[in-house]
Amino acid sequence: MSNKNTHIKKAEYLENLFGCTGRKAVVTGASSGLGAEISRALVHAGAQVIGVARRKEKLDLLREELIAQNGSFVSCVADIRNGDGIDQIIDMVNDAGGCDIVVANAATADRQLLKNINRTDFDQLIELNLTLQWQLAKSLFPTLANSGTGRFIQIASIYSLGASVINGLGAYTISKHALLGLTRSLAVEWAQHGITVNAIAPGYFPTEMTESLLAHKKTSENLLQFIPLKRFGDPTELAPAILFLASPKSSYVTGSTISIDGGWSAW
Ligand SMILES: NC(=O)c1ccc[n+]([C@@H]2O[C@H](COP(=O)([O-])OP(=O)(O)OC[C@H]3O[C@@H](n4cnc5c(N)ncnc54)[C@H](OP(=O)(O)O)[C@@H]3O)[C@@H](O)[C@H]2O)c1
Repeated sequence: MSNKNTHIKKAEYLENLFGCTGRKAVVTGASSGLGAEISRALVHAGAQVIGVARRKEKLDLLREELIAQNGSFVSCVADIRNGDGIDQIIDMVNDAGGCDIVVANAATADRQLLKNINRTDFDQLIELNLTLQWQLAKSLFPTLANSGTGRFIQIASIYSLGASVINGLGAYTISKHALLGLTRSLAVEWAQHGITVNAIAPGYFPTEMTESLLAHKKTSENLLQFIPLKRFGDPTELAPAILFLASPKSSYVTGSTISIDGGWSAW
């Protein structure tokens, strides 16, 4: 005989484990690719998301889509390379009354060999992919500490774990390796404040960043040889890991990297 009160309530249980109702999030690079999909995942799980990028029209399209589904998404049109870009994010976070989750996703890639790349291009790539990730983290620290269950999630790469199999991704690879140093150092430093800091290391996913590479038949076939699952990822396949790391229930996971790469890093 089953008692109604003792029935496992699946929806409640899952909401309790992975739901984001009442949580506030910032996603950088929300206008396209993985950042747009990460924003969708957080909004669908109930979070209020501030999506950051330079292209207003792209952010607004995503906002319209999510608001039509009763979700909560606001556009923050900002260039985080500009002096006041991060200040704009902080202003919007303050207007929203704080922030519990940050997904530091915006980055760039440059195809130049290390023997050819000039100092300016190298510095610019390191600035966006690494230095500004630290500055964003530093700027959002007070609000994440205030949350009590702050979550900082970096978007790293398979090239955080080994050198690129494609020529010309040296500077990108260096920046993404260092990003794991930042993730681990912040995890240790912020543990006492109840903030967890973790990274996701994606393999190859079709986005604006990889579009021209994956459209090249020979390169694409070459890359598939390194992927045990023999296909590229779908951006929706990041959602479970994002919700796991964003959840207050993943409180004992910090300084970790989750590879989502079809098995690339398993060789
Ligand atoms: N796609 C893959 O296969 C793959 C694999 C491993 C890791 N990753 C990582 O995943 C993350 C997302 O990449 P993606 O593939 O989704 O590339 P993407 O489609 O090119 O997205 C990059 C995002 O960053 C934003 N952005 C770039 N510079 C910015 C700036 N100065 N200020 C504000 N926003 C800026 C772009 O928006 P605006 O142009 O509108 O500013 C865009 O929304 C990156 O960290 C990338 O390294 C991707």
